[in-house]
Amino acid sequence: MHRAKKVVLAYSGGVDTSVCIPYLMKEWGVEEVIAFAADLGQGDELDLIRAKALEAGANKSIVGDLVQDFVEEFAFPAIRANGLYEGRYPLSTALARPLIARRLVEVARESGADAVAHGCTGKGNDQVRFDVAIASLAPDLKVLTPAREWGMSREETIAYGESFGVSAPVSKKSPYSIDLNLLGRSIEAGPLEDPMNEPLEEVFTMTSSIEDAPDTFEEVEITFKEGNPVAINGESLEPVQVIKLANELGGRHGFGRLDLIENRVIGIKSREIYETPGMLLLIKAHQELESLTLSADVLRTKHQLERQWSDLVYQGLWFTPLKEALDGFINCTQSYVNGLVRIKLYKGQAIVTGRSSNANSLYIPDLATYGSSDKFDHSAAKGFIYIWGLPSRIWSYINSKDTANNIF
Ligand code: ARG
Repeated sequence: MHRAKKVVLAYSGGVDTSVCIPYLMKEWGVEEVIAFAADLGQGDELDLIRAKALEAGANKSIVGDLVQDFVEEFAFPAIRANGLYEGRYPLSTALARPLIARRLVEVARESGADAVAHGCTGKGNDQVRFDVAIASLAPDLKVLTPAREWGMSREETIAYGESFGVSAPVSKKSPYSIDLNLLGRSIEAGPLEDPMNEPLEEVFTMTSSIEDAPDTFEEVEITFKEGNPVAINGESLEPVQVIKLANELGGRHGFGRLDLIENRVIGIKSREIYETPGMLLLIKAHQELESLTLSADVLRTKHQLERQWSDLVYQGLWFTPLKEALDGFINCTQSYVNGLVRIKLYKGQAIVTGRSSNANSLYIPDLATYGSSDKFDHSAAKGFIYIWGLPSRIWSYINSKDTANNIF
């Protein structure tokens, strides 16, 4: 079967994507495979991954440094949107997929490939994200998905790969399925498939346990400019450094672990463990600063749109007109989100202890105070409440039997 001549494959160095290389060539008649591995700050040894693709038979093997784009174009917008899927998961895996898809398409265009490929299986969200993102960016480009179609068990996959020189994983295979990048780690499978099993300490690498976290709290001050975190503890930092430091600070104090049942796009519930200390810390601080600087009605509307934004990012709809329109609203609000938030990190918790904004705080002490500087016109409340409560009074007057004479 001849499905495509030249294919750019999203390559991770794992068994499935490695086996994709001989499979595409031998089974599907692909003439040339270009392996593309994305550096998303996952800390893998990318030289080894690059070499592994060649060993598996790729004609060319490329590593693309996407870390800065990942933070600036994906993580920071997610912070501005307070992006939390189902109110909890900060989308660390989901945010990476449209970026990888975009780069795959670019490499395909640059190299004259007629297809791209990925090694996702048919059960997850990532296949949806890749396929839909690629379709939005390059509707003409074929997407080949060997691992979704080959129907081999794990053992069969390894054996198939070995027959073409793809070495089996050296270490005894961990029972977990892990995805990681600069924004965090997702851990699934193995003993975690029983939702009642507490995750073993071995699954965590970015965060310390509550027991091991320091016995003394640590205070952090996070400064935002137009909704983006720009400094920590008064020190201005590049976006990538902000995420790194936030991960370190949160992780040290055991903050940023999640254990949830999540609703996947393809309809199943899955049990997910995450550690995303930096994103959770930055979103928490950002939400706090918004509560000080945005008006009540904008905040309420934004909260609704944030849920929608998170849903569509999770569901693979990054490159869509709705996403663009929601970003329009969100970005418009963010020019007012300037200031800083102080947080205490202690034993798995991040506790907000202060917030301030010189330019944009809507908190007016002379209106809020119970002291003698009070400037709020108490007498104005009476008329307001008369009108505010009028519909209630009318309803009660008309519909209840024992009504007094003069209710107006
Ligand atoms: N459930 C997460 C998401 O869809 C993570 C999926 C990837 N995780 C993994 N262990 N393979 O965003």
